[in-house]
Amino acid sequence: MNAGFHRLAETLRQSTGIVIDPTKRFALEARLSSIAVARCHGDITAMLDSVRPGQKSDLLDEIVDAIATNETFFFRDRSPFRLLAGEILSHLLTARAEQREIRIWCNACSTGQEPYSVAMTLDQAGQKLAGWRVALHASDISRTAVAAAREGVYNQFEAQRGTPTNFLLKYFTREGDNWRISEQLRSKVRFSLFNLLSPFNEHRLYDVIFCRNVLIYFDAETRRDILARLAKAIRPDGFLVLGATETIASGDPNWITWSANPLALVRTDGPFAPRS
Ligand SMILES: C[S@@+](CC[C@H](N)C(=O)[O-])C[C@H]1O[C@@H](n2cnc3c(N)ncnc32)[C@H](O)[C@@H]1O
Repeated sequence: MNAGFHRLAETLRQSTGIVIDPTKRFALEARLSSIAVARCHGDITAMLDSVRPGQKSDLLDEIVDAIATNETFFFRDRSPFRLLAGEILSHLLTARAEQREIRIWCNACSTGQEPYSVAMTLDQAGQKLAGWRVALHASDISRTAVAAAREGVYNQFEAQRGTPTNFLLKYFTREGDNWRISEQLRSKVRFSLFNLLSPFNEHRLYDVIFCRNVLIYFDAETRRDILARLAKAIRPDGFLVLGATETIASGDPNWITWSANPLALVRTDGPFAPRS
C-alpha cells in the first residue's frame, strides 16, 4: 500500500502539479476508497497499480476530482474584487479605450464562484463598460468542478456564502432549495477544462488573470514555471491576482508587486515596473 501510495503521489505531482502531504495519506485513502469500490471491487492497491505515470486516463481524472481541494466561495477575500472594480478597471478603461475589449482569465476557478463574482463586479460597472466586449474565461483541471461551474446552481449555504443579499436577489433565481445563477451572468463566462501544467495560449493575451489559491498546492519549481508562463500570457500592463496566503519568491524575474493586499502583480518588463 505504501509503495502504491507513493507512486500515486508522484503520478499526481507529474500530471497535475499537486503535491500530496504524506500526513494526509489516510484521509486521502478514505476519499479514494469509494472510487476503488466502483472500479476495483474496493481494492485500492489494484486501483493504484493501474494508474500509470504520464498517461491520461478517466481513472486519473476521477482521482484528481476526489483529491483536489475545491474550497471556494463568492467574493472570497473581497479585496481582489474591490481592486478589480477600482484601480484595475480604471486603468483598463483608459488603456483599452481604443479596442474597447477586456480579457480576463480565472484559471483555477473550481465550481465557478470566482468567475461569477468577477462577472457581477463587472456588471456593477454598468455604463462604464457599455459597448465594450468583455471576454471572461474560466477553467479548472477538475471535470466535476467545471461541470458544476457551468451549471451555476448552488445550495443555500454556497449561494449565501460571501454574496451580498442584494446580489443574491439580482443575479440568482430560486430553484427549489437551490439558487441558479442568472442566464445573463452565466452566458458571460466561457468555461473549459484546463490543466495549469499545459502550455498556455500566448496569442491572445489577457488583461487580468486570477490565479488564486492553487499555487499553494504545487512545489516551488512548478510555481516558478507557472508564474514564468503566466507572464507570457498577460499583456505588459496586465494584472495577475494571487490568493491571500500566496507570495512570489523574492527576486522573481518576471513579476513585481503592484498591490500587496490583495496581492496583485505586474510584469517586470511592463510600464508599471520601476525604471532604473
Ligand atoms: C482551492 S480551489 C481555488 C478556487 C478559486 N480560485 C478560489 O480562490 O476560490 C483550487 C482549485 O485548483 C484546481 N487545480 C488544482 N490543480 C490544478 C491544475 N494543475 N490546473 C488547474 N487547476 C488546478 C482544483 O481543481 C481546485 O478547483
